Amino acid sequence: MDILTVYSVVKQFGAFRALDGVDVSIERGKITLIIGPNGSGKTTLVNVITGVYKPEAGRVVYRRDGREFDITGWPPHKIFEIGIVRTFQIPQIFQKLTVLENLMAVARGQRGEGIISAVLKTWTRQEEELAERAFQILKTVGLAGKWDVPAYLLSAGEIKILELSRALMAGADLVILDEPIAGVPIDQAHGVLKTVVDINKRHGVTFLVIEHRIDIAFNYVDVVYAMASGRVIARGTPEQVASDPKVREVYIGS
Ligand SMILES: Nc1ncnc2c1ncn2[C@@H]1O[C@H](COP(=O)(O)OP(=O)(O)O)[C@@H](O)[C@H]1O
Ligand SMILES: [Mg+2]
Repeated sequence: MDILTVYSVVKQFGAFRALDGVDVSIERGKITLIIGPNGSGKTTLVNVITGVYKPEAGRVVYRRDGREFDITGWPPHKIFEIGIVRTFQIPQIFQKLTVLENLMAVARGQRGEGIISAVLKTWTRQEEELAERAFQILKTVGLAGKWDVPAYLLSAGEIKILELSRALMAGADLVILDEPIAGVPIDQAHGVLKTVVDINKRHGVTFLVIEHRIDIAFNYVDVVYAMASGRVIARGTPEQVASDPKVREVYIGS
């Protein structure tokens, strides 16, 4: 069953069609990758899914707990609350706070507290439970050993993994990552994507990943969509899409 379906979405900027009738199905429990050259409409699609842009035509449907929600045109905070989390929607990482405190701040912020009081507040029983949950998440992602390390001492890859942990802490059902390994050195980039796979397997969280560096990303995903000029030009397994003549033409031509 699809967790999210995008039906014939059109998004224009003036007369320019950034999305020209895009259909995408994201299967629950899988990792779906969208590739495409710069300017092909990938981020615009994410912006339509997460409510930043309202499409001129088409629909976005989200399914959870046997219910169907037409989320087209919903405001971003409502889409976040229903379980679709784009990592940058979560408040920024606090550089001076520890890894654990950064996770706690997400949960506290979600309970509607101001971010400052959320950070400074002393611990209660309920928060000890939250800390326990945070620790479980940190174990899954391999950051438990660094729970008391301030965020500014983490590597680029560890920061990405901390962002993923915070999405889990926020209760994400579908996590959307727009170029999660941009600017991350190659060895750490593999670590980030391995963590995505691990979270997917252990927590059952569904992922939509947008990525430019397809040579790295293809090893870790289940389904691939290729976009060009605001349209989907191919869909299939990584092997199928990598050998698709239309995709090869776009990538060699760009
Ligand atoms: N807010 C905007 N106003 C005008 N044009 C935009 C805007 N956002 C994106 N575009 C254009 O839409 C096209 C797709 O952009 P984008 O979705 O960011 O591509 P990608 O993420 O695949 O690199 C590009 O030509 C871009 O210049
Ligand atoms: Mg982009």
